[in-house]
Amino acid sequence: MEVLSEILNRVSANSFLDEQLPEESLQNILNAGRMAPSAKNRQPWRFIVMKSPQIKEKIKETAYGDERFTQAPVVIAACTTNIGYRMPNGELSYPVDLSFAVSFMMLQAEHEGFGTSLITTFREDEVKKLLTIPYSMKVIMMLLIGKTEKNGDHETRHPLDRIVSYDHW
Ligand SMILES: Cc1cc2nc3c(=O)[nH]c(=O)nc-3n(C[C@H](O)[C@H](O)[C@H](O)COP(=O)(O)O)c2cc1C
Repeated sequence: MEVLSEILNRVSANSFLDEQLPEESLQNILNAGRMAPSAKNRQPWRFIVMKSPQIKEKIKETAYGDERFTQAPVVIAACTTNIGYRMPNGELSYPVDLSFAVSFMMLQAEHEGFGTSLITTFREDEVKKLLTIPYSMKVIMMLLIGKTEKNGDHETRHPLDRIVSYDHW
């Protein structure tokens, strides 16, 4: 079991190729999200899978015309079903919970040989209307999945000695 290679390989996709995502890969990706940890194991999420060109075309308009929405064979809207729960440290749990689920999906997609883009640039109120999402729920992010040429550049990261310290700040 090798996870670091998926982590090191992954880059955000700038575009997607015109290729389908096999159902088995999609189910593996969704299952990876399902198995992600969440605060108190509340699993406050719902994943709306979009494959239809018509719905993706409409969703693209909520995302300021980002072409990747219609290129990618699958778009997943990661929604929260609970916006009120706070963790014992006082912080809201849903952004953290949803981030774990989506990052597990991203890594499984990489493992299956597919690229991803994580998108938060969209008008949430319009997405909710299109996907008939109840008023009290929220769309936190959208994950686009599909075959890519490895066209993203590896963006630099801070070195470990800048972001890690031991025993004090
Ligand atoms: C919380 C979050 C929100 C993001 N929102 C967007 C977005 O709206 N549009 C986009 O193109 N990329 C978005 N990204 C992707 C980041 O820009 C990207 O992950 C970052 O620049 C590092 O590049 P890499 O993913 O290729 O390593 C988002 C990433 C995260 C974690």
